[in-house]
Amino acid sequence: MSGPTRFSLAGLTCRYGGSVALRDVSMEIPASGVTAFIGPSGCGKSTILRCLNRMNDVVPGFTCTGQVLLDGEDIYTPTTDPVSVRRRVGMVFQRSNPFPSSVFDNVAYGLRLNHGLSRAALELKVEEVLRAAGLWEEVKDRLGTTASMLSGGQQQRLCIARALAVEPEVLLFDEPASALDPISTERVEELVLELGKKLTVVIVTHNLQQASRVADRTAFFLLGRLVEYAPTVELFTNPRREQTEAYVSGRFG
Ligand SMILES: Nc1ncnc2c1ncn2[C@@H]1O[C@H](COP(=O)(O)OP(=O)(O)OP(=O)(O)O)[C@@H](O)[C@H]1O
Ligand SMILES: [Mg+2]
Repeated sequence: MSGPTRFSLAGLTCRYGGSVALRDVSMEIPASGVTAFIGPSGCGKSTILRCLNRMNDVVPGFTCTGQVLLDGEDIYTPTTDPVSVRRRVGMVFQRSNPFPSSVFDNVAYGLRLNHGLSRAALELKVEEVLRAAGLWEEVKDRLGTTASMLSGGQQQRLCIARALAVEPEVLLFDEPASALDPISTERVEELVLELGKKLTVVIVTHNLQQASRVADRTAFFLLGRLVEYAPTVELFTNPRREQTEAYVSGRFG
């Protein structure tokens, strides 16, 4: 797998209380393109995704050993500020969770955190980010509307816009389309593909077709272990492990 590496994981093991959720995972995630995590429910996909921006820190009883390097730097040293990690590594969840404020303010929130922008500059930047999230045309006449008035698919794209506003290097998606209708799903998939050209994108999905549509490479997990990690086409058409073969051909999961 070519190009610069964004994440380098070595011997990553995660526990919730006493029970192991992820076992000894080592892998490299390239900076460019889209990487998908697939596998049956409970195999550890969300756990590993949340390790990439220290989102697990807030889960009671969570501990991990091993190493996660972001651009060559360990993000789990005692002096690392998890907030600064999360600014570089944004996240979009399964259920869209816009703030209970206007469309404009949802996006402006992140911009205000990072820059001392004038009102005019802020407005321009909000437009730019909403365009990048493929939402501008649909909301430009109702920027003052409460975000919860938007459709589910629009709310999800608003959350993507909000995440983009702080200009992350990486965007993590945990089943971003599983609560959406097919058309909204397609919009989100197009966006994932588009964003993968500019930043590092990692997506967890239950939908194997979705992984094959959007991901350059795919990692298959089973019972907390990384079973196989390969270019997506290879993993789906010519898997090397029997367990992968069984999963991608729909025999379980
Ligand atoms: N907050 C938590 N507290 C305790 N155990 C947890 C917690 N979150 C996850 N686990 C456990 O860790 C294991 C991996 O869970 P994880 O959520 O990472 O799986 P997943 O692959 O994302 O599953 P799904 O496809 O259902 O979302 C499971 O056994 C799960 O029960
Ligand atoms: Mg999950």
